[in-house]
Amino acid sequence: MSISKKSIQQVLETAQIEDVVGEFVHLKKSGPRLKGLCPFHNEKTPSFTVTPSHNMFKCFGCGVGGDSVTFLKEHEKFTFIESIEWLAQKYGITLEKVVYSDEQQQKYKEEESLYIVNDFAQAYFVKQLNDTEEGRNIALQYFKERGYRDDIIEKFGLGYTSSAKDGFIQVAINKGFKLESLKQLGLVSSSSGNDFFRNRVMFPIKSISGKVIAFAGRIMGQNKKAPKYINSPETEIYLKSKVVYGIYEAKKAIRKEDECLLVEGYTDVISLHQNGIENVVASSGTALTIQQLQLIKRNTPNLKIIYDGDAAGVNAALRGLDLALEQDLNVKIVMLPDGDDPDSFIKKVGATVFRTFIEEKADDFIFFKLRLLEADADTPVKKTAMIKDIISSIGRIPDPLKRNLYIKECAQRLQVDEQILIGETNKAVKEVLIQQQKETARIERAAQQERAKKRAESGLPHDPSLPLEPPPFFEEGEPAPMDGGFPREAAKTVSPKHNHEREIIRVLMQHGDQQLKTEEMSVAQYVIEKIGSYFDEFEHKDYKAMALYCRELVKKGKPVNFKQLASHEEDVFREIALDFGMPKWSISPNWEKKGIPLRTQPDIEQNFRQDAMKEVKYLMLAWLKKVSKQNMEKYKDLDVEDSESMMKYLKIHTKIQEAETALAKELNQVIL
Ligand code: UTP
Ligand code: MN
Repeated sequence: MSISKKSIQQVLETAQIEDVVGEFVHLKKSGPRLKGLCPFHNEKTPSFTVTPSHNMFKCFGCGVGGDSVTFLKEHEKFTFIESIEWLAQKYGITLEKVVYSDEQQQKYKEEESLYIVNDFAQAYFVKQLNDTEEGRNIALQYFKERGYRDDIIEKFGLGYTSSAKDGFIQVAINKGFKLESLKQLGLVSSSSGNDFFRNRVMFPIKSISGKVIAFAGRIMGQNKKAPKYINSPETEIYLKSKVVYGIYEAKKAIRKEDECLLVEGYTDVISLHQNGIENVVASSGTALTIQQLQLIKRNTPNLKIIYDGDAAGVNAALRGLDLALEQDLNVKIVMLPDGDDPDSFIKKVGATVFRTFIEEKADDFIFFKLRLLEADADTPVKKTAMIKDIISSIGRIPDPLKRNLYIKECAQRLQVDEQILIGETNKAVKEVLIQQQKETARIERAAQQERAKKRAESGLPHDPSLPLEPPPFFEEGEPAPMDGGFPREAAKTVSPKHNHEREIIRVLMQHGDQQLKTEEMSVAQYVIEKIGSYFDEFEHKDYKAMALYCRELVKKGKPVNFKQLASHEEDVFREIALDFGMPKWSISPNWEKKGIPLRTQPDIEQNFRQDAMKEVKYLMLAWLKKVSKQNMEKYKDLDVEDSESMMKYLKIHTKIQEAETALAKELNQVIL
């Protein structure tokens, strides 16, 4: 059985990218588009863009982009057909099935899909719970004793599996599933070859889209030797560090309440749901990872962590939370009374008291830490260490305004001079930034290698008009690279000092009138908008004249391109245009042999590629950095009496810095 072409068409026409992406990513309107934090790479400022008018998404940080199906394939690891089925269900479209002769084969393939196996296991555990005497007597009885309602048992898909050695394996094999797939999912114990889960109540662990990716099982009865809870091992579809328990059931409520509660256990999540508190997920005992925090942050920036009121709970509270601060989450902490976990506490006091308690007792993470440390800081040495500790946490908060508020409060409470705290915090901020930049660079390098590998595997040629490796940060004195477009004549007169200027002109000449889809403007308009105000700082006489002329053209709404300038009456303009204007095509003869379709020039020219744009942004940023440095040097050389000039340079400096920060932000870079 397969889906008819007509149905696929209908689904693709109905699917609205903003609805689809909106299921997984918190999107905010931004002009004609929507923006959010990219789910495909780690970022703090949104560069993930959804454009409803094109029905497409695109991330300007990592470059992933496409339509609803691409999104589901990338995000959910769905196949094309799975994506279509998911969309059909979302939009209530009945899919027309076509029977093919290779139906049997098709079915086989589907059964091999790991999700199908997990779905089958899940259904089996539920059936064991409800439809066997043992299940009802032991497991259902246990859930009832815990006070779980039927609707909650169903909502969380709870199940049971007996103590039989291979009850599940037998049924699954009979159904036609391969032992290999069961092993792959950890449903078969790798040591004994028996059922991995035995004599346990089962909690399916779901992805954010509700697919069963793993299981947790709690033992029934007393058994001192076996662990109380066991989990599926990590598999292709279950990466512990990326999952929080309950996210599927909680995501709507998290967005609605604009807050996420974080607890430790499965039972805590379920008990809170049962009491009408649904914006809750569990970390399942492990220290929080960046990916888990990102998953939460895509739904809300407000995180409230509820800890058990014992010593282990306190220590856990301090662990991993600096990470949350770095993600710019607003972190609050609630400690429950000694000896209680959320599950036992809400059972004891009821929903209303529980809600009031976590509302009133929630402490800001920094102040929570301050209070804990304060109690312990009875000697000057300890106090100094404590201040350092707090400062290092505050230094991780990306928002300077927030940092300042904390510093003020801490200075007062610790009776330390505010200026000293500010100085120390700034040092800490720098340290954190350096660390983060290194980390970002490492991730970027890895991603780049991955992309290059994929590109090589796909056999697609690199766009020959652009350098392969961004960014073009030229070192002072380094000879200019002799790639396409280097001016024949000018080469003699252009010192490497003007590399950046030359490249900016080259971009304007070669790509000036190409359109940027998302920005909805031309490359020239974009470049002028970003750095046009500083063209007066160009040092090379001819390039400066050219840059200023291009700026005029853009201001007048005229296109900036090779044709405009190649017929200019000024000799210099004509010369530069002719030298730069024609992309030098270095088409490898191998491509034709390999059957790689050669892209025609107009095809590339209509829309400027986004990764090319990234390179241009790096170029502009590098140039701005240089200009800003030069400007500061001029400023230092000024006579101290000449306050007018000093003001002028300072103003320029501030403006350049603003432009730098804006560009760096688009590139996800941090400026020190
Ligand atoms: P509990 O020990 O309270 O589990 O741990 P429980 O099922 O409520 O058992 P009883 O009835 O109080 O004795 C609470 C949470 O901690 C996690 C589980 O998520 C559980 O929901 N946990 C506990 C584990 O992950 N592994 C364990 O071995 C124990
Ligand atoms: Mn318990």
